[in-house]
Amino acid sequence: MSEVQLSLGPFQGITDAPFRNVFKRHFGGIDKFYTPFFTGIHKEENAKNLQGEEIDPHCNDVNTLTPQILSTDANEILRFAKQCKELGYKEINLNMGCPFPRVANKKRGSGLLPYPDKVETMLEGVFEHIGDMKFSVKCRLGYFSPDEIDAIVPIFNRFPLSELIIHPRIGKQLYKGEADVERFKNLIPYINAPLVYNGDIFSVEGFHHILGVIAGEDPQSPALKGYMLGRGILANPFLAEDIKTLDCFVVPPRNDAKRRIERLHAYVLDLYEDRLHHAGGSPKVLGRMKELWSYLMYSFDEPQDIWRKIKKINALKEYEEAVETVFRSHTLRSIT
Ligand SMILES: Cc1cc2nc3c(=O)[nH]c(=O)nc-3n(C[C@H](O)[C@H](O)[C@H](O)COP(=O)(O)O)c2cc1C
Repeated sequence: MSEVQLSLGPFQGITDAPFRNVFKRHFGGIDKFYTPFFTGIHKEENAKNLQGEEIDPHCNDVNTLTPQILSTDANEILRFAKQCKELGYKEINLNMGCPFPRVANKKRGSGLLPYPDKVETMLEGVFEHIGDMKFSVKCRLGYFSPDEIDAIVPIFNRFPLSELIIHPRIGKQLYKGEADVERFKNLIPYINAPLVYNGDIFSVEGFHHILGVIAGEDPQSPALKGYMLGRGILANPFLAEDIKTLDCFVVPPRNDAKRRIERLHAYVLDLYEDRLHHAGGSPKVLGRMKELWSYLMYSFDEPQDIWRKIKKINALKEYEEAVETVFRSHTLRSIT
């Protein structure tokens, strides 16, 4: 399994530069990262939204990070591409998957998928001038219906996308129901771009199940460019390492649990201290840490107990004590 390419999906409000850098210090297995989406790229060079550590090449690895934009305006996308290129990035990604109504109602994110003509005009504008900057797309199957992608794929095929990441849900679903892996599999023969699967990979066993559906009889030769992990790796940061090192049905030895909990603890402390340092000691860091814990609680037995403790906290001291209590009194749940 070591050849499989894994990426970390972007999460607005969680996977910012401090998160990505701390994550990389503590865990392996992720080959590629994406920024959460940028919007409102101003006309002026070096506009405010493309400054700061989120995009600064001194704080990020331009070879493994792809900046993402949420836009439907070819000129804005080109401004973004140009500025990213000047900073040393090799690829940008367009968000055509965001399901949230305040985005989708404006025909942005997954809200663009019912409008193939608009997608075509936008991509023509982008590819006319993008030059050697790589351009990839992240999308869903549709907004109102999973059939919408059938009209979009021939348009995607007209352009040299560097990568197409598909999350097989529709926008209207948000995160309800299950990712439709079968439908994803049926699309594979029709897509020219290097394809990445994203959705509901929560465990090593779950990954192998999805791989089995996608690769069918021949799981040793994955047909895809790679797999993007999302909520699963926020909940269990060992997931990418485990996918790359564990055989499907091998449960890691029990004595690994102690080492794992120590590593998890060190990661959580490091991220908190890093965020606190950046925020000048302000309790506003609690919002982001709580958001992470809304996933990370699933690393432990009795996650709801943990969430009850964490969610109501609004002082730093209380947070620090609650985290120590979690690591003292809870055990990790089985990890495959
Ligand atoms: C709170 C939240 C914020 C997200 N922010 C972004 C984003 O900025 N860009 C993006 O492409 N996807 C975003 N996503 C989608 C995830 O990257 C991922 O595609 C989604 O969770 C499905 O993968 P999963 O089933 O493995 O979690 C976000 C999802 C959530 C829940």
